[in-house]
Amino acid sequence: MNIQTTASEFARKTEDVAFAMDELFFSRTDERGVIAAGNAVFRRISGFDWDELVGAPHKVVRHSDMPKGIFHILWTRIQTGVPAGAYVKNRTKDGRYYWVYAIISPIPGGYVSVRLKPTAQVFETVVAEYAAALSAERDEGLTPAQSAQRICERLHGLGFANYEAFSASALAQEAMARDGALGRGEDGRTRCLSRLLPVIKAIEGNQIKLFQAFEAIRGIPSNMRIVASRLEPAGGPISAISQNYRLMSNEVTDHLGAFLSDGGKRSLLDSISGRIDQALFMVAASRIQREVSEAAREALVSGGERGGFEQEVDVLTSLVDGYSKTTAEVLASVFRDVAQLRRSAKDLKQLVTGLDSIRVLCRVEAGRLGANSASLTPVINQLDRFHVEIDNTLEKIMEQAEDGKDLVERAMPRAVNRTLSPKHGGAIGHPRAVGIL
Ligand SMILES: Cc1cc2nc3c(=O)[nH]c(=O)nc-3n(C[C@H](O)[C@H](O)[C@H](O)COP(=O)(O)O)c2cc1C
Repeated sequence: MNIQTTASEFARKTEDVAFAMDELFFSRTDERGVIAAGNAVFRRISGFDWDELVGAPHKVVRHSDMPKGIFHILWTRIQTGVPAGAYVKNRTKDGRYYWVYAIISPIPGGYVSVRLKPTAQVFETVVAEYAAALSAERDEGLTPAQSAQRICERLHGLGFANYEAFSASALAQEAMARDGALGRGEDGRTRCLSRLLPVIKAIEGNQIKLFQAFEAIRGIPSNMRIVASRLEPAGGPISAISQNYRLMSNEVTDHLGAFLSDGGKRSLLDSISGRIDQALFMVAASRIQREVSEAAREALVSGGERGGFEQEVDVLTSLVDGYSKTTAEVLASVFRDVAQLRRSAKDLKQLVTGLDSIRVLCRVEAGRLGANSASLTPVINQLDRFHVEIDNTLEKIMEQAEDGKDLVERAMPRAVNRTLSPKHGGAIGHPRAVGIL
């Protein structure tokens, strides 16, 4: 090989293949990942002829820069029957490369992968993370499963609960960046769901803050009782009040504890976030699936595809139907989750109002005791400060729960929203759970 050949080969390897923002391409495989069909855009970009693609394993376009861990994550997920999304760098027949964000969905007898051009900011981070993952695989001899675990840990470090949270966020960002680049308006549903996640996180933060505040004042009722016992017999009512306060504040911590630990398992708010991630992914993916399906239908009509393409149009059409159905179901479950969250916040407020009235009783009783109650003053002052703090936090939780409700309502397709609204009897899901919204 002469120097000139090597140089042109190097140039090719570092050259990416251009494709337009509005071009979506897809391929269909069997259950093992052997290519069965695809659209003309796929053939053109990959540079392979149909007879080289059809019947070949999809790794025919595998690029050596891709970490094995990513394929492990993808296959593990799609083999359980759920869609998966990932950034993938592919190699063309002539040695160039192209990056895509791929959405791989299980279909009867195999899978369909729909790809779009990545342009969101997060993509830059991904390129760096893939390079690090590849080095770790090479240097530390990681297996695909070990590398997958390492990738998930890295994503956790970047603030994503798991791979699904990352891929949902990345897909939503890609879809929004694509809408912007194509001069389309913002998709309201994607935007609302993206904004809902931080709201849920903020509620969780405030619930934890409340829980810790209650833990910190655990000692107050017993201090009150000790002081009251010194005032006997006049301190009797204070003893009773402190006993009530203790019982009721335990009820509040139980309520908060149950909410935060989901019966000793993971946090309920974590599972709500998980369902929002799922909804975000499904909403963004649905729009892409619909677009690729419409483009395929147009290509079939205009003669831009080869014979036998009708089957692909049918496959994509039923995939769109499946996506719409699942998206509506997932959104309905997010709707119920947020309703439950809001109801729980209201219950909490009621409990705290009850607790506050005990505090007021305590103040009144101390006033009645007059100068004898001086030793109670520091304890009651502490209780006053505590109530100001928890009232503020609770107020924030109530506002955030309202924001959550507004966002989820705006993210719902109108038809589902109508079915779930109390006026219509809440036909989907648990009527009581949605009734309070
Ligand atoms: C529908 C579908 C599409 C796929 N698309 C790609 C792709 O574009 N590029 C790629 O390298 N692998 C793709 N794969 C994964 C490959 O099957 C394979 O797992 C991967 O190339 C790694 O191959 P290896 O584990 O043999 O190295 C796809 C799999 C499926 C099911």
